[in-house]
Amino acid sequence: MYSKEYVIDQILSGKSKQIQLEKGTVYAPANIALCKYWGKRNRTLNLPMTSSLSIGLAQKGSHFAFEVLDEKLDRLMLNRTVVNDQDDFYQRLFSFINLFRTSSTPRLDININSTVPIAAGLASSASGFASVVKGLNALYGWQLNDSDLSILARLGSGSACRSLWSGFVEWQMGARDDGMDSLGLPLTCIWPQLRIGLLLASSEKKSISSRDAMALTKETSGFYALWPQQVSIDLTQIKKALVEKDFSTLGQTSERNALAMHATMLTATPSILYSTPQTTAWMQHVWQLRKDNVDVYFTQDAGPNLKLLFLEKDTENILQHFAEVEIIQPF
Ligand code: DP6
Repeated sequence: MYSKEYVIDQILSGKSKQIQLEKGTVYAPANIALCKYWGKRNRTLNLPMTSSLSIGLAQKGSHFAFEVLDEKLDRLMLNRTVVNDQDDFYQRLFSFINLFRTSSTPRLDININSTVPIAAGLASSASGFASVVKGLNALYGWQLNDSDLSILARLGSGSACRSLWSGFVEWQMGARDDGMDSLGLPLTCIWPQLRIGLLLASSEKKSISSRDAMALTKETSGFYALWPQQVSIDLTQIKKALVEKDFSTLGQTSERNALAMHATMLTATPSILYSTPQTTAWMQHVWQLRKDNVDVYFTQDAGPNLKLLFLEKDTENILQHFAEVEIIQPF
């Protein structure tokens, strides 16, 4: 069984852990999966059971600022609020950063400003960990390429390996036990008319993390055996739809993929249900609009929020039906 330290050593291959830049800021966009990552074949390295495909959210993501400290303890601020060293988030972040430090490396003052609601199923851990590895790359002056950074980001959170780029990114699951071939690959296709509508049902911390939820689903849902098959069909269709600019197929397949993922969760023991009455009311609304010939679809991650998928030409219509929607232009 390979460790995180082994993978890091392979990537850094002798690069120094001496600080080269005392202070800096980097940015990584959040991403929304159109074909989801749900379930791991290796929990230590976050190696997925299947490939997945996402769209980056351009201006929505994580700004990561660091500064070297002459003190004994690291400091962390998240969205201008001090995070206590007993907090889960503090511990998860610094145990990741510690993988890249020796006992003599100075402590850090870290300031993360996330423009996506933390822990609300809006993939903030993805942009968070992608921004951390970009920050470490700047701090140590490694000059690693985005593919290597993608592998490092995956060690923090699986979906983070897709947040090194904007636009469409495929996370190729890879086959190796050490995961050196499991990383993001940016797709060349662009779609300037594509719009994502964020519908926030709640920005409260979720009852079960996606990490625990996917493990429970894989262990207890009989339907999980069907998931890899579903992904392989959906991924092929989504990539074809991107090349052919076939929006209905893209939307239809992405929506079905998200619902299939949630179906595996509902059939876990105990059941996992992220949707609230607000979530299902929005779903019904989307389905009604489709009956009225509006080309709008949704996707949903591990939270009650929905992300609408539609084209620029339907913007006015969407705004009329969903007054609370926040519209993102990914290209
Ligand atoms: C539902 O990447 O947060 O958003 O690898 O355990 O950190 P860990 O999980 P995480 O899971 C994301 C799950 C998802 C689907 C997706 O983004 O593909």
